[in-house]
Amino acid sequence: MPSIKRIAVLTSGGDASGMNPCIRSVVRTGIYKGFEVFGVKHGYRGLIDDEFIEMDLSSVGHIINRGGTILRTSRSEGFLTLEGRKKAYDNLVKRSIGALVVIGGDGTFRGAVDFINDFDYPVIGIPATIDNDIAGTEYSLGYDTAVNVAMNAIDNVRDTAFSHERLFLVEVMGRHAGYIAMEAGIASGAGEILIPETITVINDVIANLESGRRRGKLSNIVVVAEGDDAGGAFDIAKLIEGKTSYEVRVIILGHMQRGGSPTAYERLMASRFGYQAIKAIMNGDFSKTVAVSGGKQVLIDLANATRKPSKIREDDLDMIVGLAL
Ligand code: F6P
Repeated sequence: MPSIKRIAVLTSGGDASGMNPCIRSVVRTGIYKGFEVFGVKHGYRGLIDDEFIEMDLSSVGHIINRGGTILRTSRSEGFLTLEGRKKAYDNLVKRSIGALVVIGGDGTFRGAVDFINDFDYPVIGIPATIDNDIAGTEYSLGYDTAVNVAMNAIDNVRDTAFSHERLFLVEVMGRHAGYIAMEAGIASGAGEILIPETITVINDVIANLESGRRRGKLSNIVVVAEGDDAGGAFDIAKLIEGKTSYEVRVIILGHMQRGGSPTAYERLMASRFGYQAIKAIMNGDFSKTVAVSGGKQVLIDLANATRKPSKIREDDLDMIVGLAL
């Protein structure tokens, strides 16, 4: 393989806090190690539409503390087609860019695998999705910040729930995964946590809420993952309406969980992931994503980094029963 002088970085899919400090790390480490670094705007869409910008040290200044992504992002339909991917490939070759760093989640990685299969192009992945649902890595960027944002929001809800003696159903993000619900729920002392990984039995939820009420709980909080099998928070509200002693209110936290200044942990992980991606390029270690396994930074095959089956801790499922008494 000819030695690589130019590399590019993009962010794709749902934005996640931590993307900016990660872009900063890829750009600064890349320049430090002797590469010319390009940013691609709007993810795979910009790769197809030729939206490249040359990055220098100062182009990533003052972004370590910012949520979102300065490169912008998209969920590209075009990249799902061979024609779109060919345009993207031609744009990279035209600029003599020898490797691509993609920061994103499951969909981003599937796109990368297709691209590699089509053109045998050197790609390195960096996991970033607030859902933390990528196989092979214990951490994906955005997760810690999202859990903290959700926890802080639920703390605020608790104040009003307490004052009005109400039951609040708080819906958090997670189409297929209940990690945000589980960990934000534990951290904010939720009475019930409803997640897609377990079967929600509405009669049990009602019975638990009522038994809490009998023990003197005048207010309560139920955290619902948006992908729960019984539905979102509004659906659950309809199912329990009039069947508990509580006056019920619903709040959907929604996209606010994707924003916010990255936590210290997020910034550290983003910096380390970016650094590891550049090291992988220097070692010619492609078609991989950086990942965390057993607490260590490792590289795993991109093809194996698809959406993961449930890894909710059994002990947590048991623990929350006691903590909610
Ligand atoms: O990026 C993951 C995620 O935030 C999911 O938790 C959520 O279901 C989805 O993206 C929302 O996607 P969009 O921003 O396209 O509405």
